[in-house]
Amino acid sequence: MKFFTLIMVALVRLAVAMPAYESLIGLSEREINEFVARNGIAPIPNPPEPLRAGQNGLKLVNDAAHPFKTQGTDEIRGPCPALNTLANHGYLPRSGVARPDQIVTAVMEGLNLGNDFAKFLTYQAFLMNGNPLTNLMSIGMKTPLTGQDPPKPAQVGGLSQHGTFEGDTSMSRVDAFFGDPAAFNQTRFNDLLAYATKYGVNGTYDVTAASELRYERLQDSIATNPQLVFTSPRILSAYSEAVFPTVYFVDGRLNNRQLTQQAATSFFAMQRMPQDFHRQPAPVSFEVIEPLTGKLFKDHPFVPGVNHGKNNYIEMPQTPAVSDFCGIYRDIALRVIPEQYPRPTGPLKDAIKKNLVFLYGAVSFQHNCTQVFPYGK
Ligand code: HEM
Ligand SMILES: *[C@@H]1O[C@H](CO)[C@@H](O)[C@H](O)[C@H]1NC(C)=O
Ligand SMILES: *[C@@H]1O[C@H](CO)[C@@H](O)[C@H](O)[C@H]1NC(C)=O
Ligand SMILES: *[C@@H]1O[C@H](CO)[C@@H](O)[C@H](O)[C@H]1NC(C)=O
Repeated sequence: MKFFTLIMVALVRLAVAMPAYESLIGLSEREINEFVARNGIAPIPNPPEPLRAGQNGLKLVNDAAHPFKTQGTDEIRGPCPALNTLANHGYLPRSGVARPDQIVTAVMEGLNLGNDFAKFLTYQAFLMNGNPLTNLMSIGMKTPLTGQDPPKPAQVGGLSQHGTFEGDTSMSRVDAFFGDPAAFNQTRFNDLLAYATKYGVNGTYDVTAASELRYERLQDSIATNPQLVFTSPRILSAYSEAVFPTVYFVDGRLNNRQLTQQAATSFFAMQRMPQDFHRQPAPVSFEVIEPLTGKLFKDHPFVPGVNHGKNNYIEMPQTPAVSDFCGIYRDIALRVIPEQYPRPTGPLKDAIKKNLVFLYGAVSFQHNCTQVFPYGK
């Protein structure tokens, strides 16, 4: 209620400042987000519903309403090629600062992620990297645009924050030990293309190329990165992200799980949808992604662990394995989030609990995980 009052005040101020012929309802998502960031606690909308039948199919998504624009100097991009691309096409606010519900909507609309999968990725990231008070998250580096931070040890570091969602052994970025882990690295990406050439059907990045590359990236980091961390929850995102491009970056009209090197370059290097790009013909969720990550694991099993110096990988079999989905959910809720929010109070606690309920909503249906309550029911 307070929020809407404030917005009304802002609109009235704008009305005074603007010539009468200008529209008052033209406040952009970005302006609204900036307003919230300045003014503190924001309302938290419920997660978006799945796309409705009839609106969840094949669709041209690189369309006139979503033109590609190179990011402006003050616009933030980060470690995720998909979110960067969606921001460059205006599916996300081009500023690179967004609410979680905007991210869920963007990945459903732009790439046809299934609703529960979109919520799983988004609310997990938001709890680790976003600002629960303003309900805003940076898709890249930390920024004052997400508003006043909650007390430390909360980081509100944005998606680029190393050691949260962002982690080691990425395909097109270096490990944090070697440099900026959010920045696209052409040398790394050339390896992805080389693996497509070597292993993929017709030189495409397919599940076989993904499998071999994922294995190589881990072996390379074990050999070279003295501070490698490869444990829950990073292991799950690492394996999922290896197969995402074979699904969501492939044009939905062909939909053969074979990503051409040209399309891969468009998304990863240019952060741009290929011309005439169509999204997946139906929402794609865990039921498609998990068998693919399962194949990657079966090809090259590993035990979670950390390096104590180069080439000294200490296995941690007591931590959740990549196949233990509910174990990873529990680890996020009971360990990772309380590390940043050990004893939240008041509206901060309410906001975190609400987002935890949203996260649970994403893991209750297809996985039937048991709900956990780090801050009581
Ligand atoms: C829905 C919300 C999403 C969030 C919050 C998110 C977040 C992230 C983050 C934090 C990373 C960095 C991980 C790392 O490499 O250290 C990442 C990487 C990645 N994301 Fe996303 N992502 C989302 C959706 C998607 C979607 C829909 C795709 C579809 C293709 C995607 C594809 C990728 C890929 C391929 C990488 C790996 C980049 C690399 O290893 O070089 N993401 N994402
Ligand atoms: C890109 O990655 C390569 C290989 O890991 C590394 O040698 C190079 O320094 C990186 N470039 C930048 C700008 O970090
Ligand atoms: C490889 O590409 C050619 C030409 O586009 C196509 O005819 C063939 O079916 C492809 N092979 C496979 C295994 O998909
Ligand atoms: C989900 O788990 C609960 C409790 O373990 C069990 O009673 C229920 O049958 C499960 N439902 C499904 C659909 O697997």
